[in-house]
Amino acid sequence: MSGSNFALLAGPSSINFARSMARQIECEIVDFEFKEFPDGENYFRIISDVKGKNVLIVQSLYPPVDHHLVQLLFLSKKVTELGGFVYAICPYLGYSRQHREYLSGEVVSLKTVGHLMASVGVRRLLTIDIHNVEGLGLFPFPAFSVSAIPIMAEWVQKNEDLSDAIIVSPDFGSSTRVETFSKLVNRQYHVFEKERDKVTGEVKIKPIQLELEGKKAYIVDDMISSGGTVIKATKTLKEFGVKKVIAVCVHPVLAAGAVEKMFEAGVNKIIASNTIENKYGIVDVSNAVVGYLKLLG
Ligand code: R5P
Repeated sequence: MSGSNFALLAGPSSINFARSMARQIECEIVDFEFKEFPDGENYFRIISDVKGKNVLIVQSLYPPVDHHLVQLLFLSKKVTELGGFVYAICPYLGYSRQHREYLSGEVVSLKTVGHLMASVGVRRLLTIDIHNVEGLGLFPFPAFSVSAIPIMAEWVQKNEDLSDAIIVSPDFGSSTRVETFSKLVNRQYHVFEKERDKVTGEVKIKPIQLELEGKKAYIVDDMISSGGTVIKATKTLKEFGVKKVIAVCVHPVLAAGAVEKMFEAGVNKIIASNTIENKYGIVDVSNAVVGYLKLLG
């Protein structure tokens, strides 16, 4: 991207992710002023000249999701008014789990998010490991998802002792990701059958025939939110004699109380990426985005 017409704007939710991107690509940094008023309202002023530039606004939509979404909308609107072209980079795309009407009358939240973005001039979207690729079709402009699973696998292989390890997918939805992960770390994988009650949200896992006694299990998923999925899988794995459980995810949403509940249930460690800026997001996956942008030239 050297010498390209791209400029990078580090949104308030993704300062470190954007900094890491900036270390890997040569592009102008958009200077802006930002403050949050005591009542929680946001104030922004774009200082750099963005006219005619493709502005990459990096803003992950993790909790508080609505707050981070509004910040992205405000920034996009102003960049558009100043003559820039907005390319939204949302390492984690909040609302991506509501990409369809599961029960009649439900709001397809992701569709509305896409329309809001379009209304403030967003022209393209790039995210990482979207929950379901079907969601990309809801955006009224080109939307793409890149995978951080190869980077996560490389990190795990370098930093963890994988002898006696098995890789577990807590449901069929994650099985393709887990298959890729397990091939890259060269370990066997197993898929659990999971059922979530669409009304209560309760998750049930049906165990399958496994040889797990004394093993170490890496549960790999796209995200951990309430921790319910990982907890169910951990309990089943422990029943089967697994000695250590490590939860690996791309997006550590980790809603209030999730971490405590997971450790109580027997999870020994959480390894996650920096799509969400918290203490578990230790694996830098910004290269997945940078690699994609380099392809665009
Ligand atoms: C679901 O299909 C996803 O892949 C995750 O398993 C799920 O969203 C995690 O959510 P929670 O931590 O609330 O169970």
